[in-house]
Amino acid sequence: MKIDALTDEDEVAVVALWSEVGLTRPWNDAAADFRRALAGPTSTVFGATSENGIVGAVMVGHDGHRGWVYYLSVRTDEQHRGVGAALMAAAEEWLRARGCVKVQLMVRRDNDLARSFYDRMGYEVSDVTVHARWLEPRP
Ligand SMILES: CC(C)(COP(=O)(O)OP(=O)(O)OC[C@H]1O[C@@H](n2cnc3c(N)ncnc32)[C@H](O)[C@@H]1OP(=O)(O)O)[C@@H](O)C(=O)NCCC(=O)NCCS
Repeated sequence: MKIDALTDEDEVAVVALWSEVGLTRPWNDAAADFRRALAGPTSTVFGATSENGIVGAVMVGHDGHRGWVYYLSVRTDEQHRGVGAALMAAAEEWLRARGCVKVQLMVRRDNDLARSFYDRMGYEVSDVTVHARWLEPRP
């Protein structure tokens, strides 16, 4: 397995993966998120590739203050083999190289599995709430 930054050609496979593991939502355009992450200088998407194609992916970016991780996913039949941990290590290294000293992420409250995973990865639950407002009508 190898981990590389992905390219536009990987869009269909990655969006299918995000959908397969339940990360997509009707109000998020995952394909547009993928393209935007590749287009800008402050974000990218890493993919884990084996002889079975793309088996995992993660979006990473920074806002000038903190690093952020989104859409971490490993194909269901490839989970529990260290792919998720390897993708997180790649994302963290990318952020470190850009001067970020902290990385954070959001987990949906009902995603107990992911919470256990991040706990195992050394991520602490922050004493904050996330507040959001749509700037355009919700799709
Ligand atoms: C979360 C996810 C990316 C983990 O990927 P993975 O490749 O299975 O994880 P790894 O094999 O790298 O596991 C790393 C460590 O976390 C632990 N871990 C993995 N899944 C776990 C779980 N469900 N509960 C508890 N620990 C877990 C592993 O035991 C391992 O610990 P170890 O180092 O002591 O062996 C994967 O389950 C997934 O794609 N889930 C669906 C999408 C999702 O919810 N993503 C998160 C969005 S916020």
